[in-house]
Amino acid sequence: MWFLAVVVTCSLLVGTQAQGTANLKRWNDQNRRCQYTFTVESPTEASCPSSGFSPETEALKSRLGLVEALVARLAGGETLGTEAQMGLQEAYSQAVRERDRLQQEKDRSTEQMEELQQMVEELQQEVLRLRNKPCPQQVPPGVPLSDSRVQPGTGITHSNLMARPGRTQDTGRVRDPSWSYGSPAYQELKAEVAEFPAPNTDETTDSRGCGELLSIGDPITHRKADSIAGKYGVWMQDPEAVTPYNSNMVWRIDTVGSEVRQLYGYDDMEQLSRGFPSKVLLLPEAVESTGAAMYRGSLYYQRRLSRTLIRYDLGLETIAARRDLQHAGFHGQFPYSWGGYTDIDFAVDENGLWVIYSTSKAKGAIVISQLDPHTLEVKQSWETNIRKTTVANAFIICGRLYTVASYASPDTTINYSYDTSTKQSKAVSIPFKNKHRYNSMVDYNPASKKLLAWDNFHMVSYDVRLGKQQ
Ligand SMILES: *[C@@H]1O[C@H](CO)[C@@H](O)[C@H](O)[C@H]1NC(C)=O
Repeated sequence: MWFLAVVVTCSLLVGTQAQGTANLKRWNDQNRRCQYTFTVESPTEASCPSSGFSPETEALKSRLGLVEALVARLAGGETLGTEAQMGLQEAYSQAVRERDRLQQEKDRSTEQMEELQQMVEELQQEVLRLRNKPCPQQVPPGVPLSDSRVQPGTGITHSNLMARPGRTQDTGRVRDPSWSYGSPAYQELKAEVAEFPAPNTDETTDSRGCGELLSIGDPITHRKADSIAGKYGVWMQDPEAVTPYNSNMVWRIDTVGSEVRQLYGYDDMEQLSRGFPSKVLLLPEAVESTGAAMYRGSLYYQRRLSRTLIRYDLGLETIAARRDLQHAGFHGQFPYSWGGYTDIDFAVDENGLWVIYSTSKAKGAIVISQLDPHTLEVKQSWETNIRKTTVANAFIICGRLYTVASYASPDTTINYSYDTSTKQSKAVSIPFKNKHRYNSMVDYNPASKKLLAWDNFHMVSYDVRLGKQQ
């Protein structure tokens, strides 16, 4: 631009000098504008005209004005262009700076996120570790630590919660829904557990401790389930446990829900009371109802929506046998009076493994079958003359079936028994308490000679007295 201006100016000057000798001075003022000064000899005398300009001077003046205007325009235009360019340049570099800043921020955020993710993972691992570990020895006030009456010889053995070597490390798939050690309810439970009497022995029983059912003690509450899943359920002990478990082990299934597959194991009654399972198993097939039983290292249960009996081997943690129970009603065809799809109910007694159910052929009367515990084959069956849907529950002691009259009445009776050895039934009247008024499971444990029951969220046990009827 400046170059153009100079060229234009020069060509003008050439034209001007043709008029005579003229001196030209030019410089830049503070506004970067060209200033031109002409000194022209007078054609008539060597002095400046005192007044007025000659026509030539006027012509030069006007041409100079034109040049100035042109230069100003060119210079101004160029300045504007530069400013615009500079503005653009500035905006561009600002955008670049902004982009770099955002990039850095993004990198920082990514780093922070990774750190947080790692923290979350560490915390999750910590939670798992803590759950697999025993709680620190923490004695609730008023409860003596060495309560030897509870479980003679075991006391409070937190270390039992530690994983069995090579077995239990990977079993944390599901967890006890409650983990409320030290809750107010705990002390109450503890007090009740502390009153746990020794198993009753009677001279009138035979060498196996068998006899007729004479009486049933008051229920003792061991644990209350804390979620709705535990309104009804089944809890069990294996009278003939197999390693790696022993007969102190307590097993529990909360059975409310359509996909019931969680089996919790507790080292003993004490740990059940505290809600500290040492084992949690996820059963490969869903469980129906509260009829499951534990015997010789296997869990026996009815597969959901079927008459299929399942033997789940606790040691191998797989299904070891399955078999359809021929003609058995299921899923609400012949349940106990409270419902709950309790059509098929396993039982264990001094004689082995049984199943209590009904068939259309029996027209709803209770059928008892003794099972081969290994293969689940029916060894022998008995048909009683009592309708299954009229009884609240049933259990077998020493080869005799007993039925509970009501599941809800706090004071009810065992009012019927059937002896498989004589095939005789009879009416009896043995008082029985539904302390929590919704009893969904009653089973006999021949090892401890107790009834275990699940009464409206509560896992309760009853002592039984056996002997010769007077
Ligand atoms: C047992 O009690 C229930 C409920 O009261 C009753 O319906 C049933 O007839 C009784 N059974 C016997 C054998 O007495």
